[in-house]
Amino acid sequence: MVRTIGIFDSGVGGISVLQHIREALPEANLIYVADSGHVPYGGRSAAFIEARSMALTRFLLKHGAEAIVIACNTATAAAALPLRKQFSKIPFIGMEPAIKPAVAATQSNVVGVLATVGTLESARFAALLDKYGGKVKIVTQGCPGLVELVERGDLHSVEARRLVERYTTPLLEAGADTFILGCTHYPFLAPLIREVAGEAITLIDTGAAVARELKRRVDTELPPRVRLGVVGNETFHTSGDAERATSIVSQLWGQDVEVKPLPQSYC
Ligand code: DGL
Repeated sequence: MVRTIGIFDSGVGGISVLQHIREALPEANLIYVADSGHVPYGGRSAAFIEARSMALTRFLLKHGAEAIVIACNTATAAAALPLRKQFSKIPFIGMEPAIKPAVAATQSNVVGVLATVGTLESARFAALLDKYGGKVKIVTQGCPGLVELVERGDLHSVEARRLVERYTTPLLEAGADTFILGCTHYPFLAPLIREVAGEAITLIDTGAAVARELKRRVDTELPPRVRLGVVGNETFHTSGDAERATSIVSQLWGQDVEVKPLPQSYC
């Protein structure tokens, strides 16, 4: 049997995590679902995000996923607990804004968090701040519109720059020298964020740490699947427009792929 990992996000942002997962688990088959028919999750209710996360998880399990990465900070905040309760035998690896490494990295003692409003307002995020904030000042910034830019593959337009300026300026004015990219869509905007905020800024992304944690849990909790020298494949599905997704995912993933429509019963 082939090791199969399921990954989902509100849209194409989780592709930034998929790149790290591919490096960590070269032999695994990876199934990615973009819920682009319902993006963005940032302003949605927790109940809505939970229901979508349940549906996407059922689809991934039906297609053989043995572990699931919730490649979305907003969905992790709203749905990680109910998912783990409902599917108690499945390892779920979630994403959270990386407060701890950012606190360790800052020299100015001010950290800026760029994230969705849903993530910033969640109880999970409040608990993270309590646990790791300490003496460092944490300045948060909700970023409506950034997810939509990445969903249309717009990583460098005048509008993109204007939005990035609007969201990073208050953090820089507060003295932040370190920004947490608290949404999996934002690593695709990292070059623009650096251009706007200056090369000296430290950007903290959780993708690599999540891939390491996935590998650790796969190695310790799942039965071994030895396929020496075999390279795994990736399959992509979307609840949005599959033709459009094919072009955007190919752009973000860096090679031509086909994105299939998610069956209607999961949309
Ligand atoms: N990639 C999701 C995250 O990490 C974006 C959420 C949204 O769709 O607003 O939070």
